[in-house]
Amino acid sequence: MTLLELEDVTASYGPVQVLEGVSLSVPENGAVGILGANGAGKTTTLRAISGTVRAGGRIVFDGKDIRGLRPDQVAALGIAHVPEGRGTLGDLSVRDNLRVGAYLRKDRKGVAEDIDFCLDLFPNLAERITSNASALSGGEQQMLAVGRAIMSKPRLLLLDEASLGLAPSTAKNVYDAIRKLRLTSGIAMLVVEQNANLAFTLVDSATVLETGRSVLTGTSAELKGMDEIRRAYLGG
Ligand SMILES: Nc1ncnc2c1ncn2[C@@H]1O[C@H](COP(=O)(O)OP(=O)(O)OP(=O)(O)O)[C@@H](O)[C@H]1O
Ligand SMILES: [Mg+2]
Repeated sequence: MTLLELEDVTASYGPVQVLEGVSLSVPENGAVGILGANGAGKTTTLRAISGTVRAGGRIVFDGKDIRGLRPDQVAALGIAHVPEGRGTLGDLSVRDNLRVGAYLRKDRKGVAEDIDFCLDLFPNLAERITSNASALSGGEQQMLAVGRAIMSKPRLLLLDEASLGLAPSTAKNVYDAIRKLRLTSGIAMLVVEQNANLAFTLVDSATVLETGRSVLTGTSAELKGMDEIRRAYLGG
């Protein structure tokens, strides 16, 4: 079943239209990638879904049109956005950042269990549980940003450039954990990633954006087999 469907989504910053017609769909329990050059509109697509930029077109989540909802309303429906640049709260400890992610939840026992789940998934965070987020390494902050999103018990995770600025081995660790999260939780994912080689270790299919428009959609295997995709995104 389809969990999220975008149909001809448009978006602008002031007078400048940057999304011209983005269409994609994420199946329940699926993981879908968004590929595209710098400025193609990948981040803006995630913002249109999470309600942080005004959008046109149709955005349907779990059968409900969510376009025009406020970010907190979108979050309450079960969509968690891990933004580009992470956005962890530097003055709060790792534990408190995780608790902030659960602020809409009332089930204290479930929250405590999910904190343990996050620390299992990201053992580095367990070691730094009382440290301020600002004292974490880039990779640890990325793990914390994902962990915080998990704490809201989302049905869909929007991930923006989880590997940005990380050393290759750290980026691989982060994606290994996200893949494990996918397998153990069944949370659906929409994944923006410059590093397509990494993205393809996680996603089943992907959509390619060019100047604000989706131009190509295929399974990971189909896309990896295409010359133009290999040249543009896979380094040969
Ligand atoms: N807050 C903003 N105000 C005005 N223009 C913006 C804003 N954010 C992005 N843009 C513009 O919108 C277009 C799409 O940007 P977006 O951030 O969605 O691209 P992207 O595909 O995520 O790129 P990158 O790979 O560099 O992260 C770009 O031309 C960008 O300059
Ligand atoms: Mg971006």
